[in-house]
Amino acid sequence: MTHVKNICCIGAGYVGGPTCAVIAYKCPDIKVTIVDVNAIRIAAWNSGRLPIYEPGLDEIVFARRNKNLFFSTEVEKAVNEADLIFVSVNTPTKKTGVGAGYAADLAYVESATRGIADVAKSSKIVVEKSTVPCRTAESMRTILEANSSDDIRFDILSNPEFLAEGTAINDLLYPDRVLIGALQTPEGLNAQKALVEVYAHWVPTERIITTNLWSSELSKLAANALLAQRISSVNALSAICEATGADIDEVAYACGRDARIGPKFLKASVGFGGSCFQKDILNLVYLSEQLNLPEVAAYWKQVVDLNEYQKKRFVSRIIKTLFNTITNKRIALLGFAFKKDTGDTRESAAITLCKNFIQENAKVRIYDPKVSSEQIYMDLSEPGIVDNTEEVKKHITITSSAYEAADNTDAIVIATEWDEFKTLDYEKIYDRMNKPAFIFDGRLILDASKLQNIGFRVHTIGRAA
Ligand code: NAD
Ligand code: UGA
Repeated sequence: MTHVKNICCIGAGYVGGPTCAVIAYKCPDIKVTIVDVNAIRIAAWNSGRLPIYEPGLDEIVFARRNKNLFFSTEVEKAVNEADLIFVSVNTPTKKTGVGAGYAADLAYVESATRGIADVAKSSKIVVEKSTVPCRTAESMRTILEANSSDDIRFDILSNPEFLAEGTAINDLLYPDRVLIGALQTPEGLNAQKALVEVYAHWVPTERIITTNLWSSELSKLAANALLAQRISSVNALSAICEATGADIDEVAYACGRDARIGPKFLKASVGFGGSCFQKDILNLVYLSEQLNLPEVAAYWKQVVDLNEYQKKRFVSRIIKTLFNTITNKRIALLGFAFKKDTGDTRESAAITLCKNFIQENAKVRIYDPKVSSEQIYMDLSEPGIVDNTEEVKKHITITSSAYEAADNTDAIVIATEWDEFKTLDYEKIYDRMNKPAFIFDGRLILDASKLQNIGFRVHTIGRAA
């Protein structure tokens, strides 16, 4: 059986970085090198300020860096030295061409695979870590085999990642499960065993699930679709709550107490964000269409449509409440990240809110504890959002505290559930706002009755005003 001694991870992003740092931390006998074509990102991984914010990540990286954990741009060298290679590159939704707007862009996976085929001088286990459509491993195998010689073999495994941002380190240290799919051949099963042995350094073996390759690939898309579906379900119910006087937190709690339903992922919100839920569901929709399963495609598509509806609904409620116009009104937007405890803004609901506020000519003052001004300007200047940095700058001010953001505004909008927003001095904030002072809680984190006692007019997702 192969015993893995040297791991290379292609892609030093939100997944490759934390995942392989934890492997290095838990497996001091294995050398781990994380490589990326992005030299700035690699320099940051080698510096005192890591390129991503994730609680607990610094400690793990600083404990192992330059011992058995290395970050490098020398892709070729690291690939050659490794006996197991994770492919952890981005798989965004295609923007143009066949499948645009739905299919995953597999160009980065293919280029990493070709890179391995071009330089490998010994046999490798190649592991799909990126989230990919079902049967991608087949294309990878075809490319690798077409380029292999008699004395070099490539075995492909699927080992999708289930970490969530903000809790990545905890998720990696104590995973609910690790999933490893392999071809059901003696060589495939041998490779699977080698990767099981790596995880078994810290993951109890009953939590390591082994399956065939295609089940593993599909399980990743399925898990994200099921999680997002719960959020869209609860968000659909939140609209009924607002119209009836039922309270979505009470409904979610009552439903979640049923052991068959369970309490997690039932928090209503302004809409889910993040780099993966939407992309992976659209990917599943595309796959279903390709398989000539239009009813299945329509079923999953509705999860994304409902999410768009939820954001639109929240914006409409804000405009309607602010006397049907927000032109030249000042709005404090608290939170820009797609969830708390991360600086990641990909597909954040806050971006859609800002886009709509700018279209309505409002003046928006944004505060987020972890997102930089540059990132906010960049996100809002994207084509399809505002597409014009000057226009963005005319409407947006970035502040360094929630208090500064709220100064002289007409309304506060909570877009991200950062803990610090729960304990702000709202009396002080109220005094410095225009009256009537409104709060729109898109995350159900504030005590509405306390705020009403101060004088605020409070509107919460999933509750009647
Ligand atoms: P990311 O964009 O943060 O990182 C990907 C990195 O790969 C980039 O730094 C890019 O420069 C690098 N890269 C691309 N092609 C390369 C090549 N040929 N050689 C070397 N480097 C290359 O992406 P991410 O968030 O880490 O996601 C990676 C994959 O993991 C995606 O498929 C995603 O769906 C999946 N995933 C993400 C999360 C998450 O929380 N972000 C969780 C689970 C799974
Ligand atoms: C999600 C999954 O939870 C991970 O298992 C998966 O590995 C990852 O996607 C991925 O494939 O990228 P992530 O997007 O990092 O992780 O974060 P989540 O905690 O799932 O939150 C996603 C979005 O849903 C956030 O905007 C969050 O605020 C929102 N959300 C979450 C709700 O609105 N309500 C909830 O009850 C839970």
